[in-house]
Amino acid sequence: MIELAPSVLSADFARLGAEAQAAVEGGATVLHVDVMDGHFVPNITIGPPVVASLRKVSKVPLDCHLMIERPDEFIPAFAEAGADWISVHREACVHLDRTLHLIAAHGCKPGVVINPATPVHAIDEVLPLVHHVLVMSVNPGFGGQTFIRSSLKKIELLSNIRESRRLGFRIEVDGGIHRDTVADVVRAGAEILVSGSAIFEQGNPSENARQLLKSALDAAKQPVQDLSSAVAGAADGANSLSLP
Ligand code: DX5
Ligand code: ZN
Repeated sequence: MIELAPSVLSADFARLGAEAQAAVEGGATVLHVDVMDGHFVPNITIGPPVVASLRKVSKVPLDCHLMIERPDEFIPAFAEAGADWISVHREACVHLDRTLHLIAAHGCKPGVVINPATPVHAIDEVLPLVHHVLVMSVNPGFGGQTFIRSSLKKIELLSNIRESRRLGFRIEVDGGIHRDTVADVVRAGAEILVSGSAIFEQGNPSENARQLLKSALDAAKQPVQDLSSAVAGAADGANSLSLP
């Protein structure tokens, strides 16, 4: 099942409730909340009070993506504020297994996130514990960045691992998802699509959500043999750095 999870980071914070609701009216079924601490990532965003306000105006699951150091200290406050899903970065958690259990103990669905430079195998041991794996397709910290194509191979690998190990986690992707990239991530196996600037930056969030979801659902209907070209593009190093 494909779901759209608009990232409210790109919304107009003065009109947050209305913008979030508009995206839901356009077909979004999850709201993605980007929490940044100015340490783990070079930006500061929002905390539990904003989650509590969103909780009052929306019934869809609130997907809190914690881009923070020492997440264990803040998980109780996000759960109390009304978070449904809480994901933490592999790179930020020394005791990841403990942190994922802590999230579950607070009644939330635990997720693990990997940055573009982190391999899928770094989370092998925790895959049976998580509700979702979030593959970052940009370096976290800001909305509006360019999609990193090597994330397609990671999504495909996760999908294969899930099948071979008979696991049940869902695959989410975050960063640079818009009308030109959404088909490739869906064909690679992503099911929960985070999108910020493509939903909120211009025009009407409702209509933007509707169109992006339609593109995703159309891609999901296409035959699987189309996949090879998308993933091959990633292997070609379409995003490789050009060094002097
Ligand atoms: C990046 C955040 C993303 C971001 C997505 O650190 O985790 O959720 O807001 O924004 P777009 O869709 O504009 O890349
Ligand atoms: Zn995010």
